[in-house]
Amino acid sequence: TGSITVGELAEKLNKETNEIIKKLMFLGVMATKNQDLDEDALELICGEYGVEVEEEVEVDKSDLTNYIAEEDPEKLEERPPVVTIMGHVDHGKTTLLDSIRNTKVTEGEAGGITQHIGAYQIRENDKKVTFLDTPGHAAFTSMRSRGAQITDIAILVVAADDGVMPQTIEAINHAKAAEVPIIVAVNKMDKEGANPDRVMQELTEYQLIPEDWGGDTIFVNLSALKGEGIDDLLEMILLVSEVEELKANADRLADGTVIEAQLDKGRGSVASLLVQNGTLRVGDPIVVGNTFGRVRAMVNDLGKRIKSAGPSTPVEITGLNDVPLAGDRFVVFKDEKQARQIGEMRQEIQLEEKRGSQSRVSLDDLFEQI
Ligand code: GTP
Ligand code: MG
Repeated sequence: TGSITVGELAEKLNKETNEIIKKLMFLGVMATKNQDLDEDALELICGEYGVEVEEEVEVDKSDLTNYIAEEDPEKLEERPPVVTIMGHVDHGKTTLLDSIRNTKVTEGEAGGITQHIGAYQIRENDKKVTFLDTPGHAAFTSMRSRGAQITDIAILVVAADDGVMPQTIEAINHAKAAEVPIIVAVNKMDKEGANPDRVMQELTEYQLIPEDWGGDTIFVNLSALKGEGIDDLLEMILLVSEVEELKANADRLADGTVIEAQLDKGRGSVASLLVQNGTLRVGDPIVVGNTFGRVRAMVNDLGKRIKSAGPSTPVEITGLNDVPLAGDRFVVFKDEKQARQIGEMRQEIQLEEKRGSQSRVSLDDLFEQI
């Protein structure tokens, strides 16, 4: 609260407490040193000294974003793009994700057992690309409904033998709402009846116009099944991410978003996180949504134990006191005590909200019975 005692005010104004009390008396306010001044009295006395009362802005101490340090533009460096794959049912999203992973991840990463952490990272021409391994729609809807935006580039998969379908349009709308650039992947080019020109034609209706036709949308023809055109697609992803100038500061406490989380019998709460800024380290005190703890162990998408993870890196961590939700934000704190305090505060608020909604529900039920 913004209250202040007579003694505190005297200190602030650099006056003797007695002087303030006298002035107050003169103004018709009886007060002692430790008494809280009400707003009127404060206005009066400050007016007397010719100082302005500044409204103390109340910060929501439970809002995690308030704990993210201000960015130092000098320290920003290029970071890998985070890519989501979207498209109509059966147009080949999963096959494309698998194809990219199979051709790129296992290459030179001997002994790597891919871990399902909802995202993976590949390397192309010495540049990294992070793919969200979730159905694009889900990523956009659940994440966006929680205020998180984690995708930098959307790949729109359209089967060349099927063309634009309802969920293709849905995907376009999601990407446009999020103001994320779209690369069109015309898939199943190996199939008989594949007609990429028709796909291009159909997409012009949605302002996705190929460069050849005077537009600025990148189209890549590929066969996810045969692994053809994958390199072209990756090249285009790198091109677009360069244009986007994606940047982050590795030299700060990490923050980011939960990709998925669950309870594991042996390990407890296990959360896949995407580090979006800063560097996440083992041992870091962390608040994740309404949960908190210390990063006990950290594993990358290859199942390898790692000690630190920079911007755009997907990781899996243990050490949280409960299971967070996909789309929750996480923020690392310098000291554990603060993380605990904020985590507990957030948990309490969540409990209160739950109680509130429960009583509302029962009221609704009552009305329904009438
Ligand atoms: P949902 O997750 O159900 O929305 O589907 P999806 O978009 O992930 O499609 P998925 O990758 O499961 O592919 C659907 C079917 O199309 C599978 O039988 C794939 O083998 C096949 N398929 C995917 N890509 C290609 C391709 O490039 N060529 C051919 N011929 N078949 C493909
Ligand atoms: Mg799929």
